[in-house]
Amino acid sequence: MHKVLNQHIHEYLKEREETKLLRELTACSVRNNSTDLYLNLNDYLQLSRHPLIIEAAQKALAEWGTTSSGSPVVGSYWPIHQELEEALKEWCGFEYGLLWNSGYTANKALLSSLPQKNDVVLVDRYVHNSVLIGMRETQAKLIRYRHLDLNHLEDLLRLYTHPDRTVFVVTESVFSMEGDYPDLKQMRLLKDRYQFFWIVDEAHAMGWYGPRGNGLVATFGVEKEVDILVATLGKSLASQGAFTLFHDRHLRSYLLNRTPEFIYSTYLTPAATAASLAAIEVIQTELIARQSQWLSQTLQLKNSLTHFFPSLPLYDSPILPLVIGDPETTLRLAAELAEQHHIYVGVIRPPSVPKGTSRLRLSLHCNLAFDSLAQILEDFFKKPVKKRGEHAKKTGYLIFE
Ligand SMILES: Cc1ncc(COP(=O)(O)O)c(C=O)c1O
Repeated sequence: MHKVLNQHIHEYLKEREETKLLRELTACSVRNNSTDLYLNLNDYLQLSRHPLIIEAAQKALAEWGTTSSGSPVVGSYWPIHQELEEALKEWCGFEYGLLWNSGYTANKALLSSLPQKNDVVLVDRYVHNSVLIGMRETQAKLIRYRHLDLNHLEDLLRLYTHPDRTVFVVTESVFSMEGDYPDLKQMRLLKDRYQFFWIVDEAHAMGWYGPRGNGLVATFGVEKEVDILVATLGKSLASQGAFTLFHDRHLRSYLLNRTPEFIYSTYLTPAATAASLAAIEVIQTELIARQSQWLSQTLQLKNSLTHFFPSLPLYDSPILPLVIGDPETTLRLAAELAEQHHIYVGVIRPPSVPKGTSRLRLSLHCNLAFDSLAQILEDFFKKPVKKRGEHAKKTGYLIFE
């Protein structure tokens, strides 16, 4: 390696290591051990091993093979892809849809191709990295409004709304690092007043919320006002990939003509596509009757932890963020949870979250024994953090980021 590059890499990694922010990959070989609890995974409805979904994926494998083998614009857009698009449109109340290889790709493609020079893009301060990276490729102006602060958003709308430009507003429904969400009805009122172009990312809400498991946009009844709904297939929908939904057919056509992420990449595998198609069915036929139960149990669990985490956002979403502060203690606590209780949680450190807010992120799921988890966590956090044993500092525990 050239010495300049070598030095750059060395210095980068050294700095990460010294600040306890170095990420490492740990191959996990104990997935099927029933005593382990994987709260680092986003399989919120536990559908990744559902027999009907596995069967659907196997059938698609047998019929279509292991790969789509090419770009969707060169023949690898297949009836199974079209079928999933149709199902998603009907499920979520939109007229047009488009599948993508990942939620990251979809967001990046939207934000790099839609806003034009002179446009203004207003995003919640905590919006996903993919949105910010997409914006880097545009000449539009990016402004981040304070998290969930719709007054701040309105101030900005008042300032920037103008007949000669499009103002975009981008929010997640459920925020990936906080587990909270904006009042989408209030946002709709703002849209009535300022006519912005509204993009909502339902990555963490799809499946978990909605009268048919069809997301928080459906719960709030704002599907007619949202211009683009984007969501991943990789969380509750049990596979991989993502989708965007629209009311305007030209948007679909524009994106599939214009975005390199769509055009120059091998399309979703048929098995992943079929798995999500089956997941939509299973959610509606088997799971939805239990929704009010998992929502109330989730809220109860979060309530029980407010004694230790007073600023924990009290929302019934599947994301439980326990803000610890410094990365070292966060790593240590995650290691202890793994070692003592076989509970594996996400360790989230800067730059994924602001400095000083390193956290354990627990991705809850609908089949949890909520009461016993609450008890374990209460007992765990009762012990003063500073006096914990040094033994957990040594590496080798399973920690996930
Ligand atoms: C809010 C949000 N949007 C998009 C994504 C990316 O989705 P995918 O995992 O399909 O790339 C994530 C991933 O966690 C996310 O949290």
